Parts: sequence; C-alpha cells; structure tokens
Amino acid sequence: MDLLYIFLAFVVAEINSEFGRDEDDEVVSYRGYQIWRLNFQQCVIPDEVVDKINEMRDVLGKNDEFIDFLLSPSDTKEWNQYLYSYNITYEITTYDVEEKIEQERFIMSDIRRKDDRDPDIIGRLNFTSFPRLHDLEEYYARLKRQNPWAVKIITAGLTNRNTSITCIILSDRRINAPAILIDGGMHGREWTSVFSVLYFLESIAWNFTSQPEFIRNKMWFIIPILNPDGYEYSMTKDRLWSKNRRRFSGRCDGVDINRNFDVSWCDFKASIFICSNVYCGPLEFSERESSTIRDLFKYQIFSAYVTVHSYGSRVMYPYPSQELSTHQRVTDGMAAVMRGVVGQYFRATAERSGKEYGAGTSVDWMYFVNSVAHSYVIETRGGDYFVQGDEMEVSGLEVAAALRFMAQAMG
Ligand SMILES: *[C@@H]1O[C@H](CO)[C@@H](O)[C@H](O)[C@H]1NC(C)=O
Ligand SMILES: *[C@@H]1O[C@H](CO)[C@@H](O)[C@H](O)[C@H]1NC(C)=O
Ligand SMILES: *[C@@H]1O[C@H](CO)[C@@H](O)[C@H](O)[C@H]1NC(C)=O
Ligand SMILES: *[C@@H]1O[C@H](CO)[C@@H](O)[C@H](O)[C@H]1NC(C)=O
Ligand SMILES: [Zn+2]
Repeated sequence: MDLLYIFLAFVVAEINSEFGRDEDDEVVSYRGYQIWRLNFQQCVIPDEVVDKINEMRDVLGKNDEFIDFLLSPSDTKEWNQYLYSYNITYEITTYDVEEKIEQERFIMSDIRRKDDRDPDIIGRLNFTSFPRLHDLEEYYARLKRQNPWAVKIITAGLTNRNTSITCIILSDRRINAPAILIDGGMHGREWTSVFSVLYFLESIAWNFTSQPEFIRNKMWFIIPILNPDGYEYSMTKDRLWSKNRRRFSGRCDGVDINRNFDVSWCDFKASIFICSNVYCGPLEFSERESSTIRDLFKYQIFSAYVTVHSYGSRVMYPYPSQELSTHQRVTDGMAAVMRGVVGQYFRATAERSGKEYGAGTSVDWMYFVNSVAHSYVIETRGGDYFVQGDEMEVSGLEVAAALRFMAQAMG
C-alpha cells in the first residue's frame, strides 16, 4: 500500500514536471543558505578541489581571483571539513541568502519610490520597479514611436514557452555599416547584466542620429534579455535561477544557454547532468535561445559581439586569441574606462585564464566558428547577484562606457 502510494506520487510528480506551468511552482526559499568564497591569491587550491566544486555545487561567480559557491545549511559542516583537509581557508560572503533576497525586495520598492519623485533618476527607463518583461514591451514600443527612423524592434526568436526574444536594431541606415551584437540576461539571475544593457540602449537610442560618428556608423543589434523565461522565473519563483525554462520529464529543468553553443560542446567544465546549473543540453543548439543567436548570422555578418554577464568586474577575450595584441588593447581600454566611472577595479583577462573556463560558450562560438573579430565578455561589478541601490545605475554607466570604447576602437 505504502509502496503503491509512493509509486503513484512519483508518477504524478513526473507528469507535473513535464506539463506543469511555472506559475504553479513553489517560491524557493534560501533561508540559511550560505555563499562561500575561495580566493586563489590567498592559498593554493588544487584543481581537484575546484573540479569538485564545479561538479557538486552551484557556482555563482568565478574568475581568475575567486570562486563563489552556494551551500545549503545541511552541507556546510561537510564542506568545512573537506576544505580543512586541504588547508584551504574560505570566506563566508553571505550567511543567509534569503536575508539578501529580502533586502533586495526592500531596495526595489525604494527604487520605485525614488522613481515616483524623479522619473529621470534612471534616465527615461521609467520603470515602476525592476523591469518585468511586460514593462519592457511598452518601453520598446515607446522607443520606436519616438524614433522610427533609427529604431527597429524585431522578435529574433521564441523560447519554448513562446516568449519573444526581442532584439532592438539601431542604425543610421547606411550601406555596409559594421554590425555589433550585444546580449544581456543569458542567465536568469544576472539582473545587473540586463539593466546594464538596457542602460546602454537607453543612452544611444533616443538620439541615435546625434551620437558621435563611431556610434552612428555601426548597426547595433541589442538583445537585453536573451533568456526571458529564466529571467521571469528568477523574479517570481527562484531568485537564483540561471538556466532557461525547458522542462524535462525528471525532477530537474533547464539548460545553460552558455554551454549550448556548437564549440567544444559539452567538453570540459560543462555538465551532462540535467540538474547541474551548467547542463549543456541534449544537443548542440538544442535550445531556442542559443539557436536564436545562431540564426541571426543567416541574415547578418557581425564585426563585434559582447555578452554581458554578472558578476566579477572583468572584461574577457577568447583564448587562445589569434589577435592577442588587438584583443588586449581593446579589452584593456574597456576595463580602463570602466574603472574611470567611479574607480571600481575592472581587469581585462583571457576568458580561460586561471580557473575560468567554459566550453560551448557564445564568446568562443563567435570568435572561433564565425570569425567575429571582436568577441568579448563583460562581467559587471559587484560581489553577488543582488541589487543594491545606486549600484545598478553605476553598472549601466560602466558597461555603456566600455561599449562606446569598443565602438570607437573599431573606427
Ligand atoms: C596542512 O598543513 C599541515 C600543517 O602545516 C600539514 O602537516 C599537512 O600536510 C597539510 N595538508 C595538506 C593537504 O596540504
Ligand atoms: C513615468 O511613469 C509615470 C507612471 O506611469 C508617469 O506618470 C510619468 O509621466 C512617467 N514619466 C516619464 C518621464 O515618462
Ligand atoms: C507555442 O506556440 C505553438 C504554435 O502556436 C503552439 O503549438 C505551442 O503549443 C505553444 N507552446 C506553448 C508552451 O504555449
Ligand atoms: C542622448 O541622450 C542621453 C540620455 O538619453 C544623454 O545623456 C546624452 O547627452 C544625449 N546625447 C546627445 C548627443 O544628445
Ligand atoms: Zn552569466
């Protein structure tokens, strides 16, 4: 009897997860979850430890300097012992993730109040709170109405939930203008990346024809949210949701879009396990979000590509680069102008320097498969995903400065 009941419950769970709707999911609580940071400069961390973290934990942020990962309350003791056995010291950057999430909700309602007082506080991005997809549709339509000559809005693709992946095209309608592709929001939880790309869009779209020549002589393809389903889900159900929302029949959902491109696909540092946050998907380009990017190349040749992620304060170029001196010069310049905004330290590095490495990534696919001359990753400021007051706008200024620098360097 009991066994039968368990069996039935299991079958029901399977069916639910296959046909279930995101709206019906429970809101995930991160009460008591911690974020731990290992610092590569402070102690020697053997590769096997980094590999185990990549395999077993949700890695939140990672660069040549540190790796941040999430621990549930029941895992902390075991991991403390494990790291102790290697003499590795760690820093707890967050003691209770849920508390951070609550603070963030409060800050967002604060942004709303400021917005009411002064609608120009974040430029003409007049959102009543952090932008949801429906707010953005209205915003894009407004942009288009104000500036029909330079602004074109297209649905570049649909997700498997039929959500539009919107691309804003800005151009002066010149023949043979070099095209630049920018995306943000490839990972649901990286809200700062979305805001920063929107901020850049905002800063050039309204008055595109009075921008400097190095902006006007390009054709800009801007996708503020490449993973709209993951973004919405991180806003409504699970703040740390990163992948898309493709449903599988087991207990786990979603594919990491940034492991799904057809370049060293599902190689080292991607996962074949659906429950992993870096799951590479059943096939190369199995996902609508990544194939939307691929399909843009059927209509357009791109001279530059920048994918904006959060967090870690880096500008990265592909490795191994065949045009190392150009890539270093441009990314060093981008990092320098970002530092110039308020003094936050940004550094240019190769994408795979130190412990940073990813197969199936869009930046590698652009450079190695499509010969896009300038193909870069920006990791925005900050030490975690959570939105803090004015930091959003500062991040927007930094990313906009970097993109302008790149456009200028291209001529
Ligand atoms: C950790 O440090 C102790 C004392 O310094 C040493 O005996 C031990 O071998 C070290 N363990 C590892 C795994 O490095
Ligand atoms: C911002 O939105 C509010 C409410 O929708 C509206 O009253 C106000 O005019 C808007 N401001 C701008 C600058 O668009
Ligand atoms: C998406 O749209 C297609 C065509 O209209 C439809 O067949 C499909 O059921 C829709 N999918 C979802 C998840 O709504
Ligand atoms: C264009 O608009 C942005 C904000 O909307 C403003 O900061 C910038 O000064 C304007 N540039 C020109 C050339 O008008
Ligand atoms: Zn990302």
